[in-house]
Amino acid sequence: MSKTLVAYHSLTGNTKKIAEAIFEALPQPKTIKPMAEVQSMDEYDLIFAGFPVQSHGVPYKAEKFLQSIPKGKKTALFSTHGSLTGSGLSREAIEHAVVVSSQVKLISTFSCRGKVSPQALEVLSRSPEHEAWVDMAASASTHPNEHDLEEARAFARWALTLSRQRG
Ligand SMILES: Cc1cc2nc3c(=O)[nH]c(=O)nc-3n(C[C@H](O)[C@H](O)[C@H](O)COP(=O)(O)O)c2cc1C
Repeated sequence: MSKTLVAYHSLTGNTKKIAEAIFEALPQPKTIKPMAEVQSMDEYDLIFAGFPVQSHGVPYKAEKFLQSIPKGKKTALFSTHGSLTGSGLSREAIEHAVVVSSQVKLISTFSCRGKVSPQALEVLSRSPEHEAWVDMAASASTHPNEHDLEEARAFARWALTLSRQRG
């Protein structure tokens, strides 16, 4: 029976919501924890690791976690971001995560939008170069929504199937 860990880093709760949807869709045995509370990953057969995109990339604490995943461990990555889904900006961070965790056996990736905190929008809107991004990011305010959560559950089921096929 394969054992799964869902580990997440989340500042304002968006990535945590996605982590919980992934967790919900998985069969037992399974564990969900903030990355900071994970002691050892040896007992798990599949790791889901999720983070919020910051400055187009993986936040430092999440980067450290990704680097600590044991070599060859089956891993599925997920993220939430303010940028439009499918945009170059949103893909960049997952690509960053894939590079950072190049020692793992990558199973699949998932990302969706997450509302950007009013504080972050306020700070960014002070610099003219971020004006267009702030306008665009405001439309993430309803995410993650039920559709995002359903896609996250489907991602979880699919990643589990793929991980079993990969032995
Ligand atoms: C300091 C900071 C930097 C951010 N930088 C980006 C970014 O470069 N690209 C992006 O798409 N979203 C960016 N965001 C938005 C977050 O990725 C988004 O709101 C995410 O869903 C937050 O997840 P959390 O609630 O789990 O922390 C940033 C947010 C903050 C607070």
